Amino acid sequence: MKIENSLPRPQLPETPPQTGLQFTVATEEDFDEIMAISQDIYGGLDYLPTRYTAWLSESNRTVILARKQGKVIALESVCVIDDGETMLVEGLRVAPQERGKGVAGVLLRFCSQLVKSKWPEVKVTRLTRDDQLGPKDFQKYRLITKQGILLVRFNAEDLKLRLSELGPVVTLPTYSEGIPQSSETPLVPPVLLDLNEAHQMFLNSGLMSNVLPNATIVQDWQPFKPVPSNMVILLKKDIDWMVDERYTPTVASLCTHPFWVPGGPRGVGTDTYYLNIDVFGKDIGLVLQQFLSHLRRHATTLKGHVMCQMFLDPPMWKPMAEFCCQTLNVELVKEYTEQCVVESDVV
Ligand SMILES: CC(C)(COP(=O)(O)OP(=O)(O)OC[C@H]1O[C@@H](n2cnc3c(N)ncnc32)[C@H](O)[C@@H]1OP(=O)(O)O)[C@@H](O)C(=O)NCCC(=O)NCCS
Repeated sequence: MKIENSLPRPQLPETPPQTGLQFTVATEEDFDEIMAISQDIYGGLDYLPTRYTAWLSESNRTVILARKQGKVIALESVCVIDDGETMLVEGLRVAPQERGKGVAGVLLRFCSQLVKSKWPEVKVTRLTRDDQLGPKDFQKYRLITKQGILLVRFNAEDLKLRLSELGPVVTLPTYSEGIPQSSETPLVPPVLLDLNEAHQMFLNSGLMSNVLPNATIVQDWQPFKPVPSNMVILLKKDIDWMVDERYTPTVASLCTHPFWVPGGPRGVGTDTYYLNIDVFGKDIGLVLQQFLSHLRRHATTLKGHVMCQMFLDPPMWKPMAEFCCQTLNVELVKEYTEQCVVESDVV
């Protein structure tokens, strides 16, 4: 794999003594070794293979490798966002045989040192975790927001057929009692924003304060504060931005364009398309409507196996899962899990 990277290599801090580890900046040549330590990650839903190339060329990002006797055993990416105030940790992984020995801790501290020396204005570290956080984690981190993860898979042709059978009016899931929902049926179609509109709306804190959880736009695991420098990053991505309406939005959603991953996740064993949808807001009818609208928009380009991840307000998970299984006839891949955006001060 050939990756052009003309960026100057940053000066790395001193390697911590007595760890037996060396730290290097990741390059194109390291890709295969990194993939070799990443075999079991996220049940095959690892985003790193599709992002690695882009990551190496981003000027606000450094990807660090930990090596033992020259061999790659761990990786962490650090990216500076939120007008330079936040260091976002992503991609963290340790080779299976090296886990439980403190490697991640050493790497996290090394990367903090690196960021402090390179970007002294950084105040906090943020990361998004999908594992169960315990009391020890909450001594270290503040919870910024959490979203339920609904993961379904389907065959693109089956879904197209099902969507055309459904028609414009859909029945709300029975589990939705007690969850706020719009009384309108049929619902007014959601609004697909152009980039200019998305920029203006998401920077208008008054408008979006009831929609975004803790004033955070979580896009495909990356938490961004709604500030102009972050919108520059977000608007460059292939995302569809949707709201229920422009003037008093209640629900907003961001959907990636379908991206293809060769090989697909374990257990599927074939090439797979991915579609990731982040939904913000608490009205189940509007959430459902935007979900269907994103699916309909992409139905024509989807082929073969599709894995669709939806990140949504936790109480939405059950009714949406029921809708997916019973009405859309798609397969639920896993039970409820959540993504937690957490933060700690950089010391
Ligand atoms: C999670 C993982 C990186 C931990 O690596 P490890 O070397 O076994 O962890 P350590 O032995 O250093 O011990 C845990 C330290 O890492 C931290 N840690 C554990 N899981 C973490 C996670 N998911 N994100 C950030 N920090 C984590 C712990 O809080 C602890 O920090 P401390 O030293 O300040 O107490 C490793 O198990 C792994 O590669 N798992 C598969 C990939 C994965 O799930 N990555 C997490 C992405 S959110």
